[in-house]
Order: sequence, then structure tokens, then C-alpha cells
Amino acid sequence: MAAGQGTRMKSATPKVLHPVAGRPLFHYPVRAALASGCDDVVVVVGHGRDVVSAYLAREFGERVRTAVQEEPRGTGDATRAGLAGIDPRATRVLVCNGDIPLLLADDLDRVIRAFDAHDGAALALATCHLEDPTGYGRILRDEAGAILAIREHRDLASDREREVREINPGIYLASAAFFHEAIASFRSNNAQGEIYLTDIVAYAHEHGKKTVGVPSRAEVLVGVNDRNDLVRAEEAMYERIATTWRVRGATVRPGARVDDGVDLAEDVVVESGACLRGATRVGRGSQIDVGCVLTDVTIGEDVRIRPYSVLATSMISSRAQIGPFSHVRPDSAIGEEVHIGNFVETKNTRLERGAKANHLAYLGDGIVGAGANIGAGTIFCNYDGFSKHTTVIESGAFIGSDSQIVAPVTVGEGAYVATGTTITRDVPKGALAISRVRQENKEGYADRLRARLRGQKKP
Ligand code: UD1
Ligand code: CA
Repeated sequence: MAAGQGTRMKSATPKVLHPVAGRPLFHYPVRAALASGCDDVVVVVGHGRDVVSAYLAREFGERVRTAVQEEPRGTGDATRAGLAGIDPRATRVLVCNGDIPLLLADDLDRVIRAFDAHDGAALALATCHLEDPTGYGRILRDEAGAILAIREHRDLASDREREVREINPGIYLASAAFFHEAIASFRSNNAQGEIYLTDIVAYAHEHGKKTVGVPSRAEVLVGVNDRNDLVRAEEAMYERIATTWRVRGATVRPGARVDDGVDLAEDVVVESGACLRGATRVGRGSQIDVGCVLTDVTIGEDVRIRPYSVLATSMISSRAQIGPFSHVRPDSAIGEEVHIGNFVETKNTRLERGAKANHLAYLGDGIVGAGANIGAGTIFCNYDGFSKHTTVIESGAFIGSDSQIVAPVTVGEGAYVATGTTITRDVPKGALAISRVRQENKEGYADRLRARLRGQKKP
């Protein structure tokens, strides 16, 4: 169920699309349902359904279908909409909230197994115990422990009910027929005027049918209703991801954020405050230092990304060194053993093996050959206000500090560009290019100037 508006988020974005560790929060329950072997996964969409459906199609393709709930009339109504969309041959139906991002396939498997193990049961229901059950539906049982009903927080009727710490995480399993039969009886006589799926429990009890409670892990079933829940769920998700990588041999320090979908090889170290996003892949032995932000970056082996570097949609080859404070923008290809230093920005530029740009440079739309050295303050002037042009620096060339290379232009193999030069024409292989004004020294001028200015100064 992912059709709710999520009023408590106070957001223009539908609740289920808010990101948790790089994916919309409803991605995780959908993935869990697929992983637990559900044959036919139907997502109930409503609020923001165009964006929600487009995401599902892009991410899961044919494996997931949608059913539309026109108005958010409550979880009972959402289930009705979902049932209308499922294969009529389905015997068992698992219904699950879409706002529980920490859910895993194992949590669903447990509910499925419990249902199958209890012959007479009409309904299986996950339950868990929370220290603070505020906001959740409470599981009400009789003295013998039989489940009687779920009471929503707003509808709690007595202190005894308020003391109940066993809550409903929002995972239900029954036959399709039982869901149909129960939902047909639901009325919206509750605090929110909604049709509650939770009424299915009282329905079962009133019709002499058994509900099996399935104890579940409390921490993974916490629902996201507001932004405090969102941040808490995301912190737990990052910790879960970090733990998984540590087990596989990568050190992920506390406070690093490795998104779902990132891949780390053995002996990778990700320091605190680093954020690894999208389809980022990091090769064996590489280190991502404090405060780096990497989005869709492929990194080879034994690479050093020093503090506070920002890299996007680029390839970094083995043993390269980047940063501190480098900005590697999309479509950069940083070759083996290349050094990119502080305040160097690259964009759509390839640096071949061993090339160096150690300080303060803008390298846009370029090709820098093997072993070339780019001095401090070099700028590839790639844009003339209309279109982008390519700068080619061939292998072994030396670009002196504070040079401007006005593209399109080629600096030939092993050529030398003197400091402070503006290159506007190709430089032949092995040549020296120099374009700066010749230096003139005026002997004693500074002293004469000082004397004159001092004379003008008012006492
Ligand atoms: C629900 C349960 C509550 C449980 C809690 C667990 C009901 C009535 N209450 O409360 O017992 O403790 O989840 O997290 O079910 N949705 C729709 N259409 C709607 C309404 C909701 O698709 O008309 C979807 C939402 O997008 C969400 C899920 O159903 O994914 C749960 O809805 P929400 O409004 O968050 O229910 P809670 O108040 O959290
Ligand atoms: Ca909820």
C-alpha cells in the first residue's frame, strides 16, 4: 500500500517517494515482497501516482504491477483496490504497508511460514513490541492470549489499552476470499473516518476465526509517518548497510553514508562523513576520506580520494590520487596513477596514466596525455559563449602555471608552455610556446614613487 498522502510529512512529495539511503522508502518493501517469492506484486498507488508508477516501471519493470486507489479512504480501502488488481487465481494474499523501509524478505517469510503452519488460522499478523508505541495500532488480546482486535492509537478507549506495547507493524496474510469477505463488512466509524484494514482482526474474532500473531523484529518494522521517523529509519538503514560491508571486509566508519546500491571491494576504507551514492563502485584497497561525496563513480584499486572531494559520474583508475578539495565533474576519466590536487576541477576530461594537475586548475572538455604536467592556475578555456571545444595536451607536455589554453587547440607531445602563456594556436611537438609580455625592471623606481607619495600625504 503506497497510496497515502503522508500528511504528517508536510511535503509536496508523496511520502513513499522520500529517500532512505538513496532509494524511495517504498522501494524496500517492494523489493522484500519480490525477494520473499510473492508471485504477483501489486502496489496500490494513489497520491502522486504518476511519479510513483513511473519509478516502479523504471526500477522493477514487469515484475511489479500497480492498482489505483482513487481516494485515500484508508488502508482497508487500499487493500480493496489492491485485491481488484491481483490475479484472481491467487489463493494467499500478503498485504503490507508501503512505509516500512527497514522491512526485509525474512520478515515476510516468517509471516508466510506461520500462516502455512497453522491450519485453522484465517489470518496471520506480524506483531512487535515497542518501548514507545505512540502512534501505532495496538494488539488487543484476551486473558488466554488470543488476538481480539487492533485498536488504532487515536481510538484507544482505556488506560489498559493505552498500556499495551504490542503493536501492529502492518503485515497481514490471509486467503483472497477472507480479505474480500472482511473488507465488504468494514465501516469508517473511527476517529479518522477511514476504512481501516486493521478491522480485519476483530472481524476474524467475531466470526470465530483464528488470528496467528507472528513475533517480528521491532526495529525493522518501524513505520515512517513524519520526518523524525524518516531520519531515524535512514540512520538505521545506513548502519545496516555499513555492518554488511564490514562483514565483507570493508571498513565503513560511523557517520559514513553508503547508499543502497553502492558496491565496495575488500579492504576499502570509507571515512566518517563520506557519502557514496547511486551506482558508485569502489575497488580493492581504495580509501575514501572524510567528507567526500561520490555519485555514480567507478573507482579502481588502491585509489586515494582525499578529504572533501566531490566526484560525479566518472571513472577513476587504479592508484590515482584525488584531493583534498578536488571537483571531478561528470564524464571525467582519471587514468592510472594520475594526481588531481586541491581546487582542481575536471569535466568531460580524460587524463592518461601518470598525468598530474596538482593545484588550482579548470580542465574542461580535454584530453591530457600520459605523464603531462598541468601547472597551478591552468585553465582550459573550453566555452566561447556558444559551444564547447576540446583541448588536447599530448603526452609528456608541460603546462606552466597560470596558462590559459583557448580551445579548440592541441599542445603537442613533450611541448613546453611557459608560465603565464595564453595558447590560441596549436603548439608543435617538442616546441616552447610563450606569449607573455617581456619583463622590464625600472631601477630605483619604487623608492622614488614612495618618496613622492609620502610628500603628498597630509600630516
Ligand atoms: C497503520 C495501521 C496501524 C499500524 C501502522 C504501522 C491502519 C488503519 N493502521 O497506521 O495499526 O500500527 O500502520 O506502521 O492500517 N495507505 C494507502 N491508502 C490509504 C491510506 C494509507 O495506500 O488510503 C498506505 C500508506 O501509503 C502507507 C500505509 O498504507 O504506506 C499505511 O498508512 P498510514 O496512513 O501511514 O497508516 P498508519 O497511521 O501508520
Ligand atoms: Ca504509517
